[in-house]
Amino acid sequence: MDLRALLEGPTDVERAAVDDLLGPPESGWDGGHFTGLDGHIAYGGHAARERRNLLLPALHAVQDAAGSVSKGALGYISERLTVPPAEAYGVATFYALINTMSRSPTLIHVCDDIVCARYGADEIKRSLEQELGPPGATGPGIGWAPSPCLGQCDRAPAALIHTAGSGYRNVAPADARSLTGLAFDELPTGLIHQDKEELRLLRRIGEIDPESLDSYRSSGGYDALDKAIAMGRDALIAALDKSGLRGRGGAAFPIGIKWRGVADAEGEIKYVIANGDESEPGTFKDRILMEGDPFAVIEAMTIAGFATGATKGFAYVRGEYPVAERRLANAIDQARVAGLLGHDVAGAGFDFDIEVRRGAGAYICGEETALFASIEGQRGEPRQKPPFPTEKGVFGKPTSVNNIETLVAVLAVLEMGAAEFAAIGTERSTGPKLFCISGDVARPGLYEVPFGTTLRQLMTLAGGVRAGAGVGAVLVGGAAGSFVDAGTLDMELTFEGAAAAQTGLGSGAVIVFDDTTDFGPALRRIAQFFRDESCGQCVPCRIGTVRQEESLARLAANNPLGGFAEERQRLDDLALVMTDASICGLGQTAASAVQSALRLGLGGGAR
Ligand SMILES: Cc1cc2nc3c(=O)[nH]c(=O)nc-3n(C[C@H](O)[C@H](O)[C@H](O)COP(=O)(O)O)c2cc1C
Ligand code: SF4
Ligand code: FES
Repeated sequence: MDLRALLEGPTDVERAAVDDLLGPPESGWDGGHFTGLDGHIAYGGHAARERRNLLLPALHAVQDAAGSVSKGALGYISERLTVPPAEAYGVATFYALINTMSRSPTLIHVCDDIVCARYGADEIKRSLEQELGPPGATGPGIGWAPSPCLGQCDRAPAALIHTAGSGYRNVAPADARSLTGLAFDELPTGLIHQDKEELRLLRRIGEIDPESLDSYRSSGGYDALDKAIAMGRDALIAALDKSGLRGRGGAAFPIGIKWRGVADAEGEIKYVIANGDESEPGTFKDRILMEGDPFAVIEAMTIAGFATGATKGFAYVRGEYPVAERRLANAIDQARVAGLLGHDVAGAGFDFDIEVRRGAGAYICGEETALFASIEGQRGEPRQKPPFPTEKGVFGKPTSVNNIETLVAVLAVLEMGAAEFAAIGTERSTGPKLFCISGDVARPGLYEVPFGTTLRQLMTLAGGVRAGAGVGAVLVGGAAGSFVDAGTLDMELTFEGAAAAQTGLGSGAVIVFDDTTDFGPALRRIAQFFRDESCGQCVPCRIGTVRQEESLARLAANNPLGGFAEERQRLDDLALVMTDASICGLGQTAASAVQSALRLGLGGGAR
């Protein structure tokens, strides 16, 4: 069969977007279809493996220019990258932000996740439906679609707008009228409510110009790299061991062990990755760091390159964070010009450079092995571990993946010294820690506190429960975390304190629900999130997340299958199977918030 017959050919705009990224085609474009050197389209093989990693950037390029990715554009990308069209289609449709359906040049993504739901998201959706028609409408003009958390929970309700030709824009707090009128202001980086003098990780946010290397340097920027180089690789990694710094992305793995693993791994080619995919509902800390202090991320990645021997870094930024992406790209350009990236970095005899990669609306791509697949141009499906990334990571090479906050904390270790860093917090949870607090508090936002601060103290910093209400429950660790009740507010915010309270700190999300809350809708939204975001690769998670959502819906409708007790037992059984038998952390934690709520008697009733 001639596959070309299936392809419509791209529009001029789409073709130009692809050619801008990939360069002009090497041989004839016959006015409708690109033909390979021998006159045939040859998919796969060596050429495909070489360039496949450009698949997602090419999809973004087309969508940025045209608003969506047509069949013709997908066919053209497939031909240019020699990726089979079915595989390219599989990748394009994996990502929520890649639009292969709607033809509207403007698409509004409205967050209706757990925090925005408490700030009027449903009313916004109702107004948009009245004005623009049902979600996902494919007509001309403006379309809209509901979205999971957009990482703007500190200023809920949030929306993200994509317009052909001008890209993405965050809008928060959003309201239906300004959304449909496409009239809104440029957003400032999140407000920091604390006194900057007392802060380490957030001290530059709002104080320096995030687009200026000079401004960054004037606040001590790049002193940490100088120190790291002066110490040398071994002493640097030993200092990280001594600091006790553990990863802030959820798994709490000691960074010294990870960096040493990559440094000691066999092979010439190694990578470091800054994980800025931050998509856990209730989490926005990495956005504020990347937007407000992008040079810090770039400096810390450079130190990671020096320590591990990696010559290339990827900063993987979630697609919903256009400002973070732009500022990181600008910081990379300026650092390169100043000799702080590229060949012979800072005259210290090592090479290191960084490329920004944009995610496209897939929570699972924050999982490190799914992130590798995403960069490589595959569907973002997690891989079995072992082999661990330090041995076999992106492109099969030793790779260190670190969360954005972890990287910024490396600078703090170098600035203050390992012993001083280790003296903050507890023996097993050292240093300063960021918490994103949102929901029913008076001052939602990002707070930096020493590990060991209690949940109650954190909530007090955020102004306490809003409107004078009492605490219903607090979801610690985001959708993948667990609810704790008002009797647990004195829990210490440490890795070990969270474990003792049967929860985890996860990515540092703390969502407060007041005592008027009906928890049923929140639990169903969490269940929906996991069902939507499951990559579908393994059965316990793919089926379990659907069954969990169905079961909660039946309970809500007062229509339990086989009776109330049986339905509750079904939820427990599903939780056990998902937790025990799923391949990755998504399935393993998909039941934890629901289970914790049921244990506390929240939201499992018939309402
Ligand atoms: C479903 C899932 C989503 C994740 N999302 C993120 C994320 O957005 N950002 C992040 O840093 N880590 C995320 N992680 C954890 C990463 O796999 C990895 O442990 C982390 O990036 C390592 O960095 P760290 O050691 O600095 O914490 C996620 C894990 C899972 C299972
Ligand atoms: S647990 Fe879920 S998200 Fe993880 S690999 Fe399995 S199906 Fe995919
Ligand atoms: S931005 Fe809406 S819940 Fe986070």
